Amino acid sequence: MQLKKGELISIEITKIAFGGAGIGHYDNRVVFVENTVPGDKILAKLTKIKQNFLEAKMEEIQTPGDIRIKPRCKHFNECGGCSMQYLDYKNQLEFKELQVKESLEHIGNFSDTHVKKIIECKTPWHYRNKMEFTFSMNKDNKIHLGLHPKGYRYDVFDLKECYLESEDIGELIKLVQNFADEKNLKAYNFKTNSGLLRTLTVREGKRTGERLINLTTSHEEFEYKNDFVKLLTGSSHIQHPTSIYITKHISKKGAKTTFTRENIYGKPYLTEELHINNNQKLSFHILPDAFFQTNTFQAEILYNHVLALGEISHTDTVYDLFCGTGTIGLFCAHKAKLIFGVDLNKNAIENAKQNALLNNISNAEYQAGDAFKIIEGREDNPDIVIIDPPRAGLTEALCNHLLKIKAKRIIYVSCNPGTLARDLKILCENKYSLKEVQPVDMFPQTYHIEIICKLEIR
Ligand SMILES: C[S@@+](CC[C@H](N)C(=O)[O-])C[C@H]1O[C@@H](n2cnc3c(N)ncnc32)[C@H](O)[C@@H]1O
Repeated sequence: MQLKKGELISIEITKIAFGGAGIGHYDNRVVFVENTVPGDKILAKLTKIKQNFLEAKMEEIQTPGDIRIKPRCKHFNECGGCSMQYLDYKNQLEFKELQVKESLEHIGNFSDTHVKKIIECKTPWHYRNKMEFTFSMNKDNKIHLGLHPKGYRYDVFDLKECYLESEDIGELIKLVQNFADEKNLKAYNFKTNSGLLRTLTVREGKRTGERLINLTTSHEEFEYKNDFVKLLTGSSHIQHPTSIYITKHISKKGAKTTFTRENIYGKPYLTEELHINNNQKLSFHILPDAFFQTNTFQAEILYNHVLALGEISHTDTVYDLFCGTGTIGLFCAHKAKLIFGVDLNKNAIENAKQNALLNNISNAEYQAGDAFKIIEGREDNPDIVIIDPPRAGLTEALCNHLLKIKAKRIIYVSCNPGTLARDLKILCENKYSLKEVQPVDMFPQTYHIEIICKLEIR
């Protein structure tokens, strides 16, 4: 059959793919359609035609699937975030668990996938501890503050509500947008390199109740620093910040991009805590642009599971590869002889060293660089290796090196079931056995999944 872009097709959605799109079948090919759920009978317009798959845009739901629910947020149709709100939380969890099982079966060739029941997030709303909002002049030439609509890089929609960070976020956004409007401030325009306001980032200590607000501006001077502090500390409608920063972000074609931070109010950092199951607490001093897991309570659950599955003893040397700011290794340090953390990002490694100092942890060492290159040059062989790579997973060279150094246990933390299954296949076809796979839901209302795997040497 000769298919054409723009053609309307009638299909039934049978599954959800990783990435959140619904899957149906047409002309013996798989069709991916965003914003659909299993059971939906829809009319969709073809947008991409490939030999073995099609993509289509939903035009009309002819019969909604039984599991479809009304999204909670009024911005659902325009916003790029929270794309799974049309499923209730129980169904979101089922979808995620199935996704992990299927990836391990189809990509990893595992017949027994050892997948445990996914650990749910007890607070599936208001769980984020960081969000960034953007200023834009939009087409009406008025200043707006909010999030980008799906597929837009510059324009934003005015945010009236958002259920991901604290409940007063809508009020805070309104307050700052009105302030910018009253002072006649302009949003920064990338194309003309003019205008002042770029972004507003709100970070929260979910354990400590602290809040850091960072206003990022362009090269132009922000003349209202005192008024801005008064605005944020004087309103009875919002939780007051414990820190306020202005960050000057200067970027110009052909010149190096620079960031200059000024702490105009309160503490120079946000303090957050992570609680270990043995009643120990770890503290973190987080600067405006430092990485920290965005769901504090679920991060604790994730790390406590890594600790339990690691079965670390006081004679064990533990490699914490892709360690970021060191949180996983610091969680494990009280059980180990030595933690050796590696990350490509020099700032993250500096942060990890400071985090170790802050928590009086003296058996953790860190080195910046590529994980494979750094450990290839080391003579000590680790007893346990913890890996938490980015979505792309491990390189073949690193997989092969892990097979060579033969740690007795590998704990693989992954945010991508596809690359995880690919890497586990290499490790388990050779020296390792897959013992346990534990999905954890870090990001309710989105399709993202976090997975912890325990591998034992054979
Ligand atoms: C998923 S994050 C890990 C975060 C960290 N484990 C945590 O829980 O906070 C992945 C990390 O891999 C690092 N990274 C990316 N490529 C790398 C490489 N080739 N070698 C070492 N680290 C790398 C990134 O800088 C990032 O910090």
